[in-house]
Amino acid sequence: LVHLLTLQGLPRAALDALLDRAQRFAEGADARASLAGTAVCTLFFEPSTRTRLSFQRAAQRLGADILGFDAATSSTTKGESARDTLKNIEAMGVRGFIVRHVGDGAVAELAAAAEAGTALVNAGDGRSAHPTQGLLDMLTLRQALGADFSGRRFLIVGDVKHSRVARSDLHALRTLGAGHIRVCGPASLLPEDGTLDGCEVTHDLDAAMEGVDAVMMLRLQRERMEEGLVASLEDYHRDYGLDTARLRRARPDAVVLHPGPMNRGVEITDAVADGPQSLILRQVANGVAVRMAVLEALLAGR
Ligand code: CP
Repeated sequence: LVHLLTLQGLPRAALDALLDRAQRFAEGADARASLAGTAVCTLFFEPSTRTRLSFQRAAQRLGADILGFDAATSSTTKGESARDTLKNIEAMGVRGFIVRHVGDGAVAELAAAAEAGTALVNAGDGRSAHPTQGLLDMLTLRQALGADFSGRRFLIVGDVKHSRVARSDLHALRTLGAGHIRVCGPASLLPEDGTLDGCEVTHDLDAAMEGVDAVMMLRLQRERMEEGLVASLEDYHRDYGLDTARLRRARPDAVVLHPGPMNRGVEITDAVADGPQSLILRQVANGVAVRMAVLEALLAGR
């Protein structure tokens, strides 16, 4: 693995190896020396709390030197391009870049401009991919359901159209042999570009909840949305919000995931988000372990 740009096409063996290693980190495995002397930069051109800080935490636990980058106070405000920004930080000896960008494919373009020996991780590009979110979601599901997904039923709910998380989750679920993937949302928020090929698609959340093992809620991505795709937040909550009554339709031991940040009271109620079936903070904890596994795989021994 030279860069991690997407989970699409990543072989099952590579996915399993990253998840196995992440599981060991989640259990406390120590790797303080593995990135000693390696400098990594969190190069975020879009806001983030979980991804940026958990990559920084992961890099710390591996012994790396970490450089933060604040777009708002950087020379991008004077018109410097993302490519020039990367190349200048690379010239300082930084060899690992964790990059978030609003543009679909922007991280892959930056990876093409990097020197041999520099590794980029896509920390979210446009609507396209958020591979470490997909990995941490799979680790969380594996811990809850076991590693064999073949007899399991997964439900993804909400704004799939604008969601790089949903795309990376779908790539990983298919590779890991998920038994059944159901996707539910308003027609205006479901893509028609092949993203949902092989999934059962429905617009009725009450029916969609029946018999599922895991419910993966998505944030309503209002910052990427044209006007009018959703009538009102109240209507969206009524039709697609996950509350305790709806959750009772799923299997009794079903688990609930959400990548964060949550629009509480819109796609998910407080009672579900903070309830006993929620794994939302476990996802965040697993994010550090997964990002350690990814940084180690890309950078250790370079
Ligand atoms: N899930 C996620 O990517 O959260 P942040 O935007 O806070 O990084």
